[in-house]
Amino acid sequence: MTLDATAMKKLVAEEAVNKYVKDGMCVGLGTGSTAKFMIEKIGELVKNGYDLSCAATSVQSEDLARSLGIKVVDIDEVDHLDVTIDGADEVDPTMQLIKGLGGALLREKIVAAATVKEIIIADESKLVEKLGSKAPLPVEVLKFGHEHTKFALERQGCEAVLRMKDDEPFITDSGNYIYDCRFKEIAVPFALEMKIDVIPGVVENGLFLNTAHDVLIAKTDGSVYSMADALIKERPADINVIN
Ligand code: 5RP
Repeated sequence: MTLDATAMKKLVAEEAVNKYVKDGMCVGLGTGSTAKFMIEKIGELVKNGYDLSCAATSVQSEDLARSLGIKVVDIDEVDHLDVTIDGADEVDPTMQLIKGLGGALLREKIVAAATVKEIIIADESKLVEKLGSKAPLPVEVLKFGHEHTKFALERQGCEAVLRMKDDEPFITDSGNYIYDCRFKEIAVPFALEMKIDVIPGVVENGLFLNTAHDVLIAKTDGSVYSMADALIKERPADINVIN
């Protein structure tokens, strides 16, 4: 069996819902073509009687969820979310992520921060050795002074390209612009994040560091594996020994 990209997205999305979503939970709904299958699966659970309260990471996901009869709440109506299931654009071997090619990075990061278990779903094409080697790093910026923000971003060693849609700058759900920052690779993501975050005009960056509780990866052979489980198995046997 060889699965195509769409089949892998559906497989991993459904697996994540089966594994992590339980009746009565508050659930964060991610954004993107993989997350869409997850929302549809949650819609099935709701039809089957599950009582779920969901907070969406984008207008697009909220509209889809409501159309399926899912109860959508404002993130501020709940004190935390039990689980959020979301996609990613790149995943490195230690589960650090780039997100935001779908344009929802700001709300995705706020929802992730309010979540106990952030579960990432992806197919194996999203795996990279070093972040930034395939995808650009999306950075959401204020419209005001954005050319100056771009200049400061490029001083971090990237080419920053204003994201466009239909010949106009792409506008996020929060009314901002996005610069897609193309690095050769991101050598030290934690250091880069700090440097980007202090640039005036930057609203949020697409590095999701130490955010994922688990990353489920679908493979073309039809299997799905947990990166968290694999990382635990790879640890040296004596790592927990206290002398
Ligand atoms: C949206 C995101 C998405 O999760 C990411 O772009 C992956 O999308 P897809 O599942 O369509 O590949 O971060 O802001």
